[in-house]
Amino acid sequence: MDTVSLQTKVKSLRGTIEVPGDKSISHRAVMFGALAEGTTTISHFLPGEDCLSTISCFRQLGVPIERVGDSVKVTGRGFNGLSEPSELLDVGNSGTTIRLMLGILAGQPFHAVLAGDSSIAQRPMTRVVDPLRVMGAEIDGRKKGERTPLSIRGGSLSSINYEMPVASAQVKSAILLAGLQAEGVTTVKEASKTRDHTERMIARFGGEISVNGNEVSVRGKQRFTGTTIKVPGDISSAAFFMVAAAIIPESEVTLVNVGLNPTRTGILDVMLAMGADVTVVPDSSEENAEPAGTIIVRSSQLKGTEIGGGLIPRLIDELPVISLLAAHAEGTTVIKDAQELKVKETNRIDTVAGELSKLGADITPTDDGMIINGGSRLTGGSVSSHGDHRIGMMLAVAGLASAGEVTLENPEAIAVSYPQFFEHLSSLVQG
Ligand code: S3P
Repeated sequence: MDTVSLQTKVKSLRGTIEVPGDKSISHRAVMFGALAEGTTTISHFLPGEDCLSTISCFRQLGVPIERVGDSVKVTGRGFNGLSEPSELLDVGNSGTTIRLMLGILAGQPFHAVLAGDSSIAQRPMTRVVDPLRVMGAEIDGRKKGERTPLSIRGGSLSSINYEMPVASAQVKSAILLAGLQAEGVTTVKEASKTRDHTERMIARFGGEISVNGNEVSVRGKQRFTGTTIKVPGDISSAAFFMVAAAIIPESEVTLVNVGLNPTRTGILDVMLAMGADVTVVPDSSEENAEPAGTIIVRSSQLKGTEIGGGLIPRLIDELPVISLLAAHAEGTTVIKDAQELKVKETNRIDTVAGELSKLGADITPTDDGMIINGGSRLTGGSVSSHGDHRIGMMLAVAGLASAGEVTLENPEAIAVSYPQFFEHLSSLVQG
């Protein structure tokens, strides 16, 4: 495990960055490409470790996938053309891979075993396992299927009408992917709208989907046709530069080709509410698979805010870096209704509060979020990513704004979603 000294006391950040492709869309493009008939060509694919785990799992299911840099060609096998894997499917650190693959494998007439790293081993799986069992899949695993390793034997499925107890796009997607293989119509209802990349992907591959408010339905036994997908940049990766530009004086950072799907843009709402200087210019070209545009952020005076309710799923992955933003704002920021943070790659309530406190921030963890009293400059110290890519990137940005030395343990976790992160960050640093 490495430790690096971070750049600190930076004067300003200036320049333009194109962040890598969206992680959620990259996973789904490979998965739907594999399930479609014909070839799917993906450009601006995210070559981060998580998405590479998805590619290797599908290769093990007999799907030919060629990758050159950020271009990927998937030779689709159709829903009936996957083959039984002879070895364990390793999902690495990726929750999206394991949960969506369970939905796919639920309808396949063979057996598979899935497992990942030590973080995956601690993440809850009954949220997907339970509804998939109701639909007809045989799933077992550690702690009766709540934890990996999981073993699944799929087969013929019946449709389900499912009201989700947690706001999770991974759960919604797993049920829809199973529903696409079931007899009849499957409906998923969510209390708060979560990211809708799966729904968009179904339409993009020529499938039928009906969306009625927070209720989504798919008919089973559909067929998909291969297509081309240009993946927009990941707003969850852009978020680190957006916050960095907002908190470091005299900064101006332009982020081009960032995905602007409204189910993902909660961070823009929060930054504007906090008084950040943010300009968004939507792209008029229809080339991307989803809406995209340019985001320009300049430093400004920030004030605290309250973040909760239906906004949470629209910015769940940005909450670590939003906490850092709040530490630089005047006044108090309250984050609530965000219990889901506890079951991410780490318990992000504990890792954010713990690590930022080490750098001198005033953060109190609560049962469903955090209370952050902002306004004082971060001092410095030794911090760790805890193996969580987003905690690592948030701390690297915290370092830029700190007055003293900062060392980061386990920075390599960042490669899960952003292999060129440090390169891009250094290119913006002035003085
Ligand atoms: C994701 C959904 C979210 C998010 C994760 C990616 C997806 O997880 O945190 O990074 O691609 O569907 P949950 O479904 O657990 O909320």
